[in-house]
Formats: sequence, C-alpha cells, structure tokens
Amino acid sequence: MTNSVNVAIDGPAGAGKSTVAKQIAKRLGFLYIDTGAMYRTLTYAALREGVSVHDGQALYKLLEGGRIELDTSGQGANVFWNETDVTEAIRSNEVNANVSAVASHEPVRRAMVQQQQLLATKANAVLDGRDVGTHVLPHANLKVFLTASVLERAKRRYEEQLANGMDSDFELLKREIAMRDELDSTREVAPLQKAEDAVELDTTLMTFEEVVETIYDLVKERTA
Ligand code: DC
Repeated sequence: MTNSVNVAIDGPAGAGKSTVAKQIAKRLGFLYIDTGAMYRTLTYAALREGVSVHDGQALYKLLEGGRIELDTSGQGANVFWNETDVTEAIRSNEVNANVSAVASHEPVRRAMVQQQQLLATKANAVLDGRDVGTHVLPHANLKVFLTASVLERAKRRYEEQLANGMDSDFELLKREIAMRDELDSTREVAPLQKAEDAVELDTTLMTFEEVVETIYDLVKERTA
C-alpha cells in the first residue's frame, strides 16, 4: 500500500486527457504521468529498430533492454528513450498508426503497468491513459473517464497539430480516431473500459476550464 494520492484519468484518444491531466497536476502540485507516451515511445523505438509491432515478445525485449524516462517536473512533460528526447517524434502519424498494435500485447502491458505503478507509489500523481482506473491503479483516490464525440476529438487533435506547427489532415484524424477507438476497446488484454467507480465526464460541450475545475473539485472532495 502507498500513502500517495493518485488520480486516474482514462478515456478514448483525443478526449483531452493529457492537457487536462497536466493542468490538474500543476494545480495540485502532483506529478503528471502520461502512460500513453510510454506506449508511444516503445512504438517509436520499434519502428526505428525494425522490430515488428505484431511481435509481443520482441517488443517486450526491446522495452526491457531500453529505458523510457518521463520528465515529470515542470511544464514540459518531455519523454526520453535511452536519453534521446522523443517528445515530438512520438506524436507522428506513423506512431499514431502503430501504437494500438504495440499496446495490444500482454507482456508489453504487464511491464508497462509495473513501471507505472512504481512511479505512482513514489509521489502524488495524476496518470492518464486507457486502463489506469481499471488495471494500473484500481485503488486510485479518484477515477475519471473523459469522453467526447469523435468529431470533437478530431477537431481538437487537428487544432493541436496545427498549433504545434505540424501538418494536419482532419479527415485522416477522424478516421484514425474512430479506428483507434475500435482497436483499443475491442482488444483482448485490458481494453479501454470505464472503471465501475469512475466518474464519467462527456466534455463535448464543456470548455477546458470547466473540465479542469470539475476534476479539481472532485479531487479536493475525495482528499478532504
Ligand atoms: O493517449 P494516447 O493517444 O497517447 O495513447 C496512445 C495509445 O496507447 C492508444 O492508442 C492506446 C494506448 N494506451 C494504452 O493501451 N494504455 C494506456 N494506459 C495508455 C495508452
């Protein structure tokens, strides 16, 4: 058992989990742990090293032989693979297209969950992902399941990519988000699923500030 306070934020791709989680962590003075970034980093490494995204054992070996580091201090939330900063590289369309396959393998998930649990026991933390409330932190102080319509999520990703100076294709994003929803919710191991005791927030019609405020108030309530 641990005395650290943990907040789990799960939901489908593009529901705004990471921006919201980052802001909540900042307001609470908690660490922010982006579990999706860890699966993305392994995907990036596999593509670079020519490891098949369909070979669970080879991916597991690659993960065990390397080191994913999340810089959880400050604003940046930078991600490193064996000391190389991959923060931007893990957001590419190529990684987007392959990450669900990588995240579908049981040995990969087991190792990732262990790393995430270790990080969360060390400090108060906000974790975002797909299975944080259901598998990584079943005893989190607060679990939130964030959703929004596919259209709204594609719009947000589109604007985010443009704001980051990246090329973006709205139709492609829409298709890809729908496809990832399908893959992430129907995979055999730890599918995307709302934990029974999670609070569900549909953010389609909510502003960013409203979402942050609602979750912040819930954390305060739970930890009072
Ligand atoms: O949140 P994201 O889009 O960065 O996540 C990338 C992918 O990683 C997503 O398609 C599903 C997978 N993922 C997962 O299976 N479990 C998590 N806890 C986080 C992400």
